[in-house]
Amino acid sequence: MRGKLKYEGKGKRLYACDVAGELIQEFKDDATAFDGIKHDVIAGKGRLNCAISSFFFEKLHAAGIASHYVRKEGPVEMRIRELTMIPVEVVVRNVAAGSICKRLGLEEGMALKWPLTELFYKSDALHDPMIAVEHAELFGWATRQDIEQMRAMALKVNEVMSGMLADVGIRLIDYKLEFGRTADGAIVLGDEITPDGCRLWDAETGRKLDKDVFRRDLGGLSEAYHEVANRLGIEL
Ligand code: TMP
Ligand code: ASP
Repeated sequence: MRGKLKYEGKGKRLYACDVAGELIQEFKDDATAFDGIKHDVIAGKGRLNCAISSFFFEKLHAAGIASHYVRKEGPVEMRIRELTMIPVEVVVRNVAAGSICKRLGLEEGMALKWPLTELFYKSDALHDPMIAVEHAELFGWATRQDIEQMRAMALKVNEVMSGMLADVGIRLIDYKLEFGRTADGAIVLGDEITPDGCRLWDAETGRKLDKDVFRRDLGGLSEAYHEVANRLGIEL
């Protein structure tokens, strides 16, 4: 199934495959934080992330949110449509945590009155700086209309995922999404949806069930991701 390696990132590899316009996205066992300064290899992480990501993309598809997802192809492999990625990350926050707390002096855990969307320029070398829609327009990364569509899709994702997670006692604190264009120019959701790119807190205890466990040395990452998968009834 797997052809030539086309791209390798910190958490995944993309391979050409038997169908033109489709790729195989392989989830690696690597865990990184702080733009790769902290790195570890955690056996089974790729398998967990592939299962969790596939599960979320299927639920989002059922809710009418278009993405690159085609199907789960193997234990660590997802078949996707090839996209031209837009280098603007959309972060949605329901509760203050992480960088917004540092930036604005907020207390971690403060609930936001409504979901906040923020834009970041995807560049490890520049540490993903926060941008405004004007930067995206000026530098030709996306039009204002594209950004509005991405924000609207990101908020629809929030409704679907927050509800699903709340049903199993998990609060969706924040998450990052990436978008790309299909061959016919439509903007769809790309990349992955895993506890690497979300903050997930146990609704009762506030226990962290996401990559902050690794970033902040709070315990086992694998145990936390297993907990998320188990509660959602995801088969591993
Ligand atoms: P932040 O608090 O560091 O801005 O991150 C907000 C959320 O988005 C958090 O769940 C982690 C995720 N995120 C990524 O996964 N990759 C990124 O490059 C950024 C900026 C955020
Ligand atoms: N995704 C980035 C990295 O892997 C930042 C982070 O998650 O802390 O380095």
